[in-house]
Amino acid sequence: MKLQELYADAIKRGYSIGAFNFVNLESLTAILDGAQNLNTPVIVAVSESAFKYMGAEFLKGLIEGARKTYTIPFFVHLDHGKSLEICKKAIDCNFDSVMIDASSLPFEENVKLTKSVVDYAKQFDVQVEGELGRLKGVEDTVSSNEHLFTDPSEALTFVKQTNVDSLAIAIGTSHGVNKFLKDAKIRIDILQEIEKTIPNTPLVLHGASSVPQKIKSELVKFGADLKNAQGVPENILTEVSTKHHIVKINVDSDIRMTTTLAVRKYLTENPSDIDVRKYLSQAKKDITKLIEHKIKDVFKTKPVKY
Ligand code: G3H
Ligand code: 13P
Ligand code: ZN
Repeated sequence: MKLQELYADAIKRGYSIGAFNFVNLESLTAILDGAQNLNTPVIVAVSESAFKYMGAEFLKGLIEGARKTYTIPFFVHLDHGKSLEICKKAIDCNFDSVMIDASSLPFEENVKLTKSVVDYAKQFDVQVEGELGRLKGVEDTVSSNEHLFTDPSEALTFVKQTNVDSLAIAIGTSHGVNKFLKDAKIRIDILQEIEKTIPNTPLVLHGASSVPQKIKSELVKFGADLKNAQGVPENILTEVSTKHHIVKINVDSDIRMTTTLAVRKYLTENPSDIDVRKYLSQAKKDITKLIEHKIKDVFKTKPVKY
C-alpha cells in the first residue's frame, strides 16, 4: 500500500493516521506494536535532531529490522526537514516520506525550497509534505514565537506551484506541552476554507499532543515541573480526523511524557533496581497503550487489508 492511497482512503472514509515520533529502538517498537495489535497503518517519524541522535547507519538498521518484523503497512517519515540535504539523507536511509519545513521563510522561498525537494523525491517515489503557516511555541529547532495561520488562498498557490503530496497547516496548535494559556482554540473555520480551496490535498496537523491530564498529574506527583502544560482536547482531534481532510496527526510530546513518567515511577518504586531493560520495558508498554488509544479512540484509524 502506498502512502498516497492511504491518505486518499483516510479522506474518503473519515479517519486520520497517527504520525508518532521515535528516538530509539524502544520508542520505534512500542509504536509499531500498538499499530500491529490493532492491524492499522501508522507513520513513524524522525525529527532532524532525532536523525542526528541515532545516526544514519543505525537508523537505517532500525528501519530494516522493523520492516522484517512487522506486517502492518507502516511508513517512515522525516519530520520538519529544514533543507534539501537532510531530505536527501533521509531518502538514502530508505524513508517513504519527507517533510520539508520551509514555513519560516518568505512565501516565494518556501515555494522554491519545497519544489526542489519535490523534484528530487519524485525520482525515488518518496512523498513530500510541505508546510504553510507557522505554529507558535518553542521546541528545539522547531520554533516560532506567534501564530501565523495558514492563508487558504496562499495554500492553493503553494500546492499548485510546488506539487507537494500533502500540506501541514497552522490552525492554532503548537509544539510542546504548553499549547494554550486558557481554553484550547482551534480554527476549524480556517480548516474548512482550506479544504474548499484545495479539496484534493491531504492535510496534516502538527502539535497535536493532548497532554493527558492523568499523565500530567502523575508526572507532577513523581517530581516533574509541568504546571502550565495543556494540550489539544481529544474531541477536537476526532472531529478533524473524521469530518475534515486532516489525514496525518503528529504526536511527540505525549510519548515523551509517557516515557518520562514510566521511568520516574519505576525508579521511585523500585529504588534498588538498576536494570535499564526493566524501566525501558515499562516505558515501552505504556507507549504502546497510548498509541493504541490514539489510533482506535481518537484518530479512528481503520484497519486495512494488505
Ligand atoms: O515537531 C517537533 C518534534 O517534537 C521534534 O522535536 O527536534 O526535539 O526531536 P525534536
Ligand atoms: P507535539 O509537541 O504536540 O507532540 O507535536 C509533535 C509534532 O508536531 C511533530 O512534528
Ligand atoms: Zn511538528
